[in-house]
Amino acid sequence: MIENLMTQKAETTKAAESNNSDCCGPDCCSDTESSSENAATEKSTKLSNRDKSSAEIKEMVKQKYSKIALQSREMNASSCCGAGECSDEVYNIMTDDYESIKGYNPDADLGLGCGLPTQFAKIKKGDTVLDLGSGAGNDCFVARSETGEAGKVIGVDFSDAMIAKARENAEKLNFNNIEFRQGEIEDLPVNDDSVDVVVSNCVLNLVPEKLNAFSEMYRVLKPGGHFSISDIVLIGELPQKIQKAAEFYAGCVSGAIQKNEYVSLIEKTGFRNIQIQKEKVISIPDDILSKYLNKDEAASYKNSESKIYSITVFGEKSVD
Ligand SMILES: C[S@@+](CC[C@H](N)C(=O)[O-])C[C@H]1O[C@@H](n2cnc3c(N)ncnc32)[C@H](O)[C@@H]1O
Repeated sequence: MIENLMTQKAETTKAAESNNSDCCGPDCCSDTESSSENAATEKSTKLSNRDKSSAEIKEMVKQKYSKIALQSREMNASSCCGAGECSDEVYNIMTDDYESIKGYNPDADLGLGCGLPTQFAKIKKGDTVLDLGSGAGNDCFVARSETGEAGKVIGVDFSDAMIAKARENAEKLNFNNIEFRQGEIEDLPVNDDSVDVVVSNCVLNLVPEKLNAFSEMYRVLKPGGHFSISDIVLIGELPQKIQKAAEFYAGCVSGAIQKNEYVSLIEKTGFRNIQIQKEKVISIPDDILSKYLNKDEAASYKNSESKIYSITVFGEKSVD
């Protein structure tokens, strides 16, 4: 347990330092963003040191995604503050293509995911599904097409603006079995043992205290329930310049932890039958790399074992 807390503290500090210095991209740190960050800093000065770094990160993440909620998918892509397409090349490597997927709702797709958790989540008709960090509801609408009318989908997000957007999307379709609740993943507004399936897409990397998030997932799942979550993890230490380039490009890298650490937190929480259902390398386009690295450094990074991955991971809560 002490080891967990130490890991979390190290994670938190690393992510705080990285988030503090990275802002949201080389060309897109608006005054609004800086003043939001200042406000977040001011707000958290009264907190204790340990809480301060966690609270600060969360406040910055909240501000960032609240701003994104008010932008279209296209604006997010071009502003570097969303899915992070700062590249001259037209890439969309983080986000999987949802367009052909049953239940897809384009209004809910802000291009913020890094996988397709619902495709691996074994959702059955009538299930209660919980989506952590639901954003504008992208995965909730897909999950609803799996649960059908008899099921229920709950999305939780801490950004009021995201919740408002998601609710508006559900209202337009007259869906009354999708509910969006404002709240924190580390303290879910969901009853114990009440959910069949938890999904999440590109969110837990943003959460400083990941063990709390996994513990909350465990608490709300019914015995025998399971999760399938897509997220960003690292293998090997990224050189600092790459970390910066990746952060500018992908936005979800500074809070990402090592893949084995991620899986070990899931194991420590008590989940069983843990499986990596999908894994893909996130490559940083050459034009982005060239802004941060010279030719030799870029070649050396490309040939190294250190990489950023998108993974989709599965785990079950035991029946007893
Ligand atoms: C990268 S976006 C992904 C949104 C959505 N899953 C999708 O794929 O479109 C991350 C979302 O998680 C939310 N979020 C981040 N940290 C959170 C936390 N600790 N508690 C609740 N929501 C959080 C943000 O507000 C944001 O909407």
